[in-house]
Amino acid sequence: MTPTPASDSLRADHRRIETHLDRLLEVLLNLSHGCVGEVRQHFEEIRRLSAPHFAQEEGVFYPRLRSLEPGILAHMDQQHEHTRLTERYLDELLSSFPDPPAERDMIELHRLGIEFHDAVQTHIVDEEDQLLQWADRELSNEEQEQLLQRMRDVVAATSSPAPR
Ligand SMILES: [Fe+2]
Ligand SMILES: [Fe+2]
Repeated sequence: MTPTPASDSLRADHRRIETHLDRLLEVLLNLSHGCVGEVRQHFEEIRRLSAPHFAQEEGVFYPRLRSLEPGILAHMDQQHEHTRLTERYLDELLSSFPDPPAERDMIELHRLGIEFHDAVQTHIVDEEDQLLQWADRELSNEEQEQLLQRMRDVVAATSSPAPR
């Protein structure tokens, strides 16, 4: 089988994101006042991991495949947009979350948390089943290597310099 370094790098990111997605879901399913900090922590980790991941996909991987498979790419774009929207809603709620929270705040946190979790998890599954499997078949090893290099350049360019 042809090695697929760019696809594999994206899959490895997905596994790291899923570690926190699983924990986030666990906390949300047993949500209590004492676990709001844990929700926040896993949410922040997922954001920290997914920002450079999205930048690599949208800057390098998706543009390479867009003209070949416009239908799948339109679906991926739509899912990225939906993920960002659910992320924004959850972020807004958490940034003004009352302490102590009322019952309705907890219900809203549960609802938006699950929505965010499901958006990210569904996208990961669809991306791997539809886009990455297809890319694995269509792209040569050399192309995959080049894409990986360009994806690394994107991360290097977007990561902020160390504070002095
Ligand atoms: Fe991805
Ligand atoms: Fe994606």
